Amino acid sequence: MNLGPLLRGRFGRPFRWVDETETTQALLAADDPEGAVAAADHQTAGRGRLGRPWTAPPGTAITASVLLRPTAGAPVQQLSLVAGLAVAETVEAALDLSAQIKWPNDVMVDRRKIAGILAEARDGIVVVGIGLNVNQTREQLPADARVQAASLRSLDGVERDRAPLLADLLHRLERHYDAWAEGGLDAIFDGIGSRDFLRGRRVSVDGHEGVGNGLDRAGRLLVGDRPVESGEVDLV
Ligand code: BTN
Repeated sequence: MNLGPLLRGRFGRPFRWVDETETTQALLAADDPEGAVAAADHQTAGRGRLGRPWTAPPGTAITASVLLRPTAGAPVQQLSLVAGLAVAETVEAALDLSAQIKWPNDVMVDRRKIAGILAEARDGIVVVGIGLNVNQTREQLPADARVQAASLRSLDGVERDRAPLLADLLHRLERHYDAWAEGGLDAIFDGIGSRDFLRGRRVSVDGHEGVGNGLDRAGRLLVGDRPVESGEVDLV
């Protein structure tokens, strides 16, 4: 993939593209600069949250990892939401449909998961992995997913070049990340809060059941009036 001519900012420099790797999360290290990106045509051992696999047939999805270096003590658990906003906007621009962020790390369209985010902190860096379903046909999407999956193509039938989508995504991520680094979650809260998939839905998180009541200013999910730091959300 030739991303260079499409890049508009710092993110994506350097851009490491490989045909195949176990996981792009392993292709970035602490001596890479902030904004470095690794992406693959195919991952043979792609990871999701909570030790789950993340799979896509070769050549169909955006599977990319971005290196971030937030200041020490910054609330890095919010980075999934920062990336979620960038992904949701990218999907909206491509489809002309609205997308939602399912706290803490999924992007949804039409109640189906179209993208997932995995933020891993190590050695003073955070590697944010993004898996966005682009050209999978309905048959190629995981059928056993706990949440029904979608791709851009399964939603509108259009096959897309992934490079401009990734360039757009990186540009949006850079803008939202810079705003977050400067002003905290407040700086981008409206974009996230207005796309909250769980608001008003009955959910169960780690054994607690209640109605999704939005996110607080720290990015925690409110279940009723109880703030939840992290966890796995099931719709009831
Ligand atoms: C999830 O839905 O639980 C998160 C999925 C994250 C997948 C991306 S694809 C690029 C990066 N490499 C990985 O192995 N995982 C992330």
